[in-house]
Amino acid sequence: MLHRRSAAIFWGVLVLAGFLGVAAVLAVSATTGVVRTGGQGGPADVAAEVVPSPTPRFSTTIVGASEAPGIPTGEVDVLGKPVLANCTTCHATREANLTTREGRQLQEFHQGLTTTHGEQQCVACHNPGDYSQLRLASGEAIEFTDSLRLCRQCHGPQYRDYEQGAHGGMTGYWDLSRGPRTRNHCLACHDAHAPQYQSVMPVFRPRDLPPRSHREDHP
Ligand code: HEC
Ligand code: HEC
Ligand code: HEC
Ligand code: HEC
Repeated sequence: MLHRRSAAIFWGVLVLAGFLGVAAVLAVSATTGVVRTGGQGGPADVAAEVVPSPTPRFSTTIVGASEAPGIPTGEVDVLGKPVLANCTTCHATREANLTTREGRQLQEFHQGLTTTHGEQQCVACHNPGDYSQLRLASGEAIEFTDSLRLCRQCHGPQYRDYEQGAHGGMTGYWDLSRGPRTRNHCLACHDAHAPQYQSVMPVFRPRDLPPRSHREDHP
């Protein structure tokens, strides 16, 4: 009895092993089959199917870049616009102080200017040779209107997101062959000296008004 049962187990295992063997052979041939047919539709063929991107015919406009700044003199011109003193008016005759890092250090002028933008010297961004310009880390002087180049040299990840439309918002077309695109300058949202975006308080959504007929019942 015991002997017969173990014989049954033996034959059962053998049959199972046979099935597994056949299955394995089938699987291997199936895989090789896939590989072989896959070869025909390989990467080279996929690349050939990519539609070339259409030639851009429109451009991207960046809005919100600031003009060359000046210091208000308190006077207004004939058109009523404030008269600004150019930065070089005072700085052409002053040696730049390369050590100033914070608004608090300024005693003679620019009082009230606060900087909360890392622990950087003023000349990390301002050109000490000519304060009517900015300066990149490479030493290259750039105009104030070109300040996006200044921001992006230190904020690569945000600039990459910006380029892809995921930071800073955009309006217009993704496809520049169909229409123009408008993007905001970094300074449209961030202050150069205190760039942290103002935090906003979440509030409950506005309550819907009851239907007009209902409102008349309850003045
Ligand atoms: C009316 C004169 C005047 C004008 C105009 C002026 N500055 Fe200044 N600025 C000063 C004086 C004075 C100091 C030194 C203040 C201190 O250290 O107490 C100073 C300091 C600075 C500093 C700090 C580093 C340093 O060299 O002392 C920077 C940066 C700076 N000015 C940038 C500018 C820029 C940019 C403009 C134009 C938007 C400008 N200034 C216009 C008078 C002026
Ligand atoms: C991260 C770069 C950066 C640093 C650091 C920096 N600035 Fe500026 N600063 C700018 C840019 C960009 C502008 C132009 C901003 C605009 O027009 O909106 C500017 C504008 C100014 C102006 C013109 C008027 C105003 O207040 O906006 C003065 C004056 C000035 N900076 C002084 C200073 C002084 C002084 C320091 C150091 C205590 C300093 N900045 C540090 C980038 C910087
Ligand atoms: C020379 C390098 C440098 C330049 C140029 C520069 N930044 Fe920064 N920025 C920094 C550093 C350093 C910090 C602080 C990072 C920290 O504290 O973790 C910072 C922080 C910030 C923050 C986050 C602030 C916060 O508290 O959350 C913003 C936004 C920002 N920068 C925007 C700008 C813009 C806009 C410009 C161009 C006008 C600019 N940065 C130019 C170095 C730079
Ligand atoms: C339309 C407004 C807008 C524009 C334009 C914009 N930002 Fe911002 N940025 C924001 C907001 C909002 C935050 C805060 C996100 C948060 O708190 O989570 C932010 C956050 C940041 C920070 C802090 C780190 C982070 O990712 O939260 C940096 C650095 C920064 N921006 C750099 C830039 C630079 C550089 C540019 C220009 C290339 C730029 N931003 C343009 C709205 C803007």
